Amino acid sequence: MFESKKYAPSEEFVRNSNLTKDQYEEMYKKSISDPEGFWGEQAERLTWFKKWDKVLEHDFANAKVEWFKGGKLNVAYNCLDRHLQTPAKNKAAIIWVGDKPGETRTYTYQQLHREVSLHANVLKRFGIKRGDRVLIYLPMIPELAIFALACTRIGAVHSVVFGGFSPESLQSRIDDAKPSLIVTSDAGFRGGRIIDMKKNIDEALQRSEHKVQHVIVAERVGNETYTVWNEGRDHHLRDILNSPDLSDECPPEEMDAEDPLFILYTSGSTGKPKGVLHTTGGYLLGANMTFNYVFDHKPDDTFWCTADIGWVTGHSYILYGPLSNGATSLMFEGVPSYPDAGRFWQICDKFGVTVFYTAPTAIRALMREGVKWVEKHRLNTLRLLGSVGEPINPEAWEWYYHNVGKGRCPVVDTWWQTETGSIMISPLPGAIDAKPGSATKPFFGIEPVIVDNDGKELEGAASGNLCIKQPWPSMMRGVYGDPERFFNTYFVQFKGYYFTGDGANRDEDGYYWITGRVDDVLNVSGHRLGSAEVESALVEHQSVAEAAVVGYPHDIKGQGIYAYVTVKNGVHTNDELKKELLELVAEKIGKIARPDVIHWAPGLPKTRSGKIMRRILRKIAEGEFSNLGDISTLADPSVVATLVEDKQKYHS
Ligand code: WTA
Repeated sequence: MFESKKYAPSEEFVRNSNLTKDQYEEMYKKSISDPEGFWGEQAERLTWFKKWDKVLEHDFANAKVEWFKGGKLNVAYNCLDRHLQTPAKNKAAIIWVGDKPGETRTYTYQQLHREVSLHANVLKRFGIKRGDRVLIYLPMIPELAIFALACTRIGAVHSVVFGGFSPESLQSRIDDAKPSLIVTSDAGFRGGRIIDMKKNIDEALQRSEHKVQHVIVAERVGNETYTVWNEGRDHHLRDILNSPDLSDECPPEEMDAEDPLFILYTSGSTGKPKGVLHTTGGYLLGANMTFNYVFDHKPDDTFWCTADIGWVTGHSYILYGPLSNGATSLMFEGVPSYPDAGRFWQICDKFGVTVFYTAPTAIRALMREGVKWVEKHRLNTLRLLGSVGEPINPEAWEWYYHNVGKGRCPVVDTWWQTETGSIMISPLPGAIDAKPGSATKPFFGIEPVIVDNDGKELEGAASGNLCIKQPWPSMMRGVYGDPERFFNTYFVQFKGYYFTGDGANRDEDGYYWITGRVDDVLNVSGHRLGSAEVESALVEHQSVAEAAVVGYPHDIKGQGIYAYVTVKNGVHTNDELKKELLELVAEKIGKIARPDVIHWAPGLPKTRSGKIMRRILRKIAEGEFSNLGDISTLADPSVVATLVEDKQKYHS
């Protein structure tokens, strides 16, 4: 049932590791038997203005959790100020690498501290204060990191929206988060192409109900790619920075550990994306501590996480984890394939990257380009590799381990979610042997359980639904603006547990193997999308009567999007219509959501009460026709035969 091959870290790695096997076992035991004692000690990793009243207060089954309540701290202070009294003052905090080869900028901790303070004062100038929301829609330029940190400095709540999202996706986030201010840029560069930013914001704001008073526009591209300049609303960042009375001193706001830190939208199985809310103390501790142990942090590391800060991985492992540890974090604006498939490795060599963290989809895409792109580079500074975002297939794991890591670097396959805030299941590289394809063992304080469909906890080797049994500091605290949705999404299906939405196997060694989502969430190239979102985009087309969207295995993306579309009576299906539908989805959500397959379906398999049987649609999309299960309960079983036939004829 499970890949049994095991990879142990080298003796040298173990010798220098931040944690031994015995220490892991001992600390893990304590973290589960005495969470308050354990986390109370660990919280000393952060700098507090005032100590908390109580480590943990919770009614987990009812989704109520508070960590370090009454404790006062500031995230920017922990990420910047406190390093200025140490030798890290003049160390690189962020090494920024542009899309275009050769373009780089480096900020030392001292410089970043100054920039963040300046930009915090920019925000203050527009009346932004603690508790206000600031929406950040920027490409991967230093201003993105700077403004996020600036928000935390003054206690404003940031909501970063990934640059690839369309105006309509932006608009729904604006209406939900109701930001007082938006930060964007004229445009951005990605893979040599120009991407619209300001233009998308203009379109989004035209449609949104919520009126945003101020839009700050950073300059990246220089050409005026947008056409609208709204006097009074829009402000050039450079003009504000040039004003002589802008101070570079900004005292950090003293925040309560449970004050909101950021909102990040993510897709669920139903409805619109929800605003996952994280708070200050617990989140920072989770990001800080996982960074130290999972990535075995050493002061002279150059750490590179290739994610975009628009996703949670970028929040926790480009910004808050590395910076709160005083690490050097590399931030890359571009893509792995530009100008050629050697870009990642060229950057690793140029900056002496020691720890590299990427997604399986990128590994598979580079694998396809051939090992010659890797072999052109030395990669001798690398000592540890990481993977995140989706299950990594053993073949990609092995390729990564042998070709990129030269068999010398442990691979940490890290399982976690936007909701969990930080890594939950992962090898600690010096303490836990890896098995390709397994995220291995839980991090401190995490008690994963596997439950069957009736919610019964399974013991020993088992397969089922992955749940978490106890609160952990960096867990989300709510869905922004919709407290019931938090409880209903995560705590209802399996009573007493947090339900992850993932399926998992646990083997005889207690290793976890995540099998992927068991709900209607798609994971396309490590990006989360809801089937319902794609469906509602498709049915907005006048020719479409109905649509059902499922995931199917895709060689590079992990999962591809398979859309069954039923057109209205009298509509002729052709390539033109297909193109229109793909365009429509790109426009409504973003290019990442464009279906890979449009399957014209004369009818969809439904129960007699009208519910679409996605289980059957998934099997057909996978080409698993022999195993369709019971179809006798369908309102019209004959639609299945037609779908199977068309699938074989047109989509195999
Ligand atoms: C999936 C990304 C297997 C999983 C940090 C989860 C993984 C969803 C892994 C969360 C992994 C993430 N192995 N599956 N190492 N990491 N996933 O919120 O299905 O963008 O529920 O957070 O990605 O995606 P999200």
